Amino acid sequence: MLPNPRPCLEDIRPYKPGKPVEQVIRELKLRGPVDKLASNENPMGPSPKALAALRRELKNIYYYPEDSCWLLREKLAKRYKVGMDSVTVGNGSVELILLSCLAYLDQGNELVMTRGSFIMAKIGARVMGAKLVEVPPDNYSHDLDAMLEAVNDRTRLVYIDNPINPLGTMATKDKLNKFLKELPEQVLLVLDEAYAEYITAKKYPNSMDYYKAGRNVLILRTFSKVYGLAGLRVGYGIAQPEILQTLSKVRLPFNVNRAAQVAAAAALDDRAHVTRSRKNNEAGKKLLYKEFERYRVFHLPSFANFVFANFPVDSDIVFGAMQQRGVITRPVKMYGFPNALRVSIGTPPQNRRFIKALSEVMKQLQGVG
Ligand SMILES: Cc1ncc(COP(=O)(O)O)c(C=O)c1O
Repeated sequence: MLPNPRPCLEDIRPYKPGKPVEQVIRELKLRGPVDKLASNENPMGPSPKALAALRRELKNIYYYPEDSCWLLREKLAKRYKVGMDSVTVGNGSVELILLSCLAYLDQGNELVMTRGSFIMAKIGARVMGAKLVEVPPDNYSHDLDAMLEAVNDRTRLVYIDNPINPLGTMATKDKLNKFLKELPEQVLLVLDEAYAEYITAKKYPNSMDYYKAGRNVLILRTFSKVYGLAGLRVGYGIAQPEILQTLSKVRLPFNVNRAAQVAAAAALDDRAHVTRSRKNNEAGKKLLYKEFERYRVFHLPSFANFVFANFPVDSDIVFGAMQQRGVITRPVKMYGFPNALRVSIGTPPQNRRFIKALSEVMKQLQGVG
């Protein structure tokens, strides 16, 4: 007989990441280049400055890391002009989402989020046995009015990913300002800005204004996207010191390893790498939009480094056919979109191979239809 897990875990389906490239090559016996456009990584790779710092640090890995992430927090605090006690670092921003659930949710409490948003907050709420209140998106965007209506005395957390993964749409500054004006003060807003560095649009909210106004927001950013360090697992949060002290009660000691800390600190200084990556992303998105338009595939203009595309057939069919051609994309069924794929922007050669594979698959589909 097996031990009984907590009943609230019954509904949790463990997070299922895309398969690593090596596994796909092995399973499908693929030859030639295989392009992983599935996990919104930076196709330009890590910042060269981060790599150099990483090499210098390797000889020190027999030491535990600095638990306080001092150097990285110091740099982040300077960058955002806040005190160091308003900055925390996590094992990816996913850790910080989970910590906010561990720290603020109990049975009987509620977390409000958009149905189809990035899945970590949903898992966190369930882990805590709290009630998950999922608000349907409105025209593929957060329905902030409906989210406000869903907030009540039991609400402790609201999670907003801006832009939303997997849709790539944005809650604008005007709308989010209004939302925060009306959100009860004691509710913590977890504002996940994983793709912020890619965005130049003026209507993107300046979330630091909320922090400076003393609001209860936890602003989350990551080194996994534009900085190209997804494999090292490092993200950070900015919030009032009292909130971060609460989060630190539930985190593991040494949650961010040595390599991650030094590489992230170096990457933060590599503005040229960020600019290069942003340019590549903008050009790649335009290219993909054009191709989706060519085949009349519904898609959304994206503020992130991926494009959401909804096909006229089950996405598994398109996904499988693309994968056979060496292009790995991401079906987003678990987010509630059975026909949609999320396609991460690649390098120019990767985008060209995506376009070639898409044209073959679309012709095949149209032939069948
Ligand atoms: C909205 C959002 N938040 C968080 C993450 C995870 O980031 P990290 O690698 O920092 O845990 C992702 C990754 O895809 C994301 O899309």
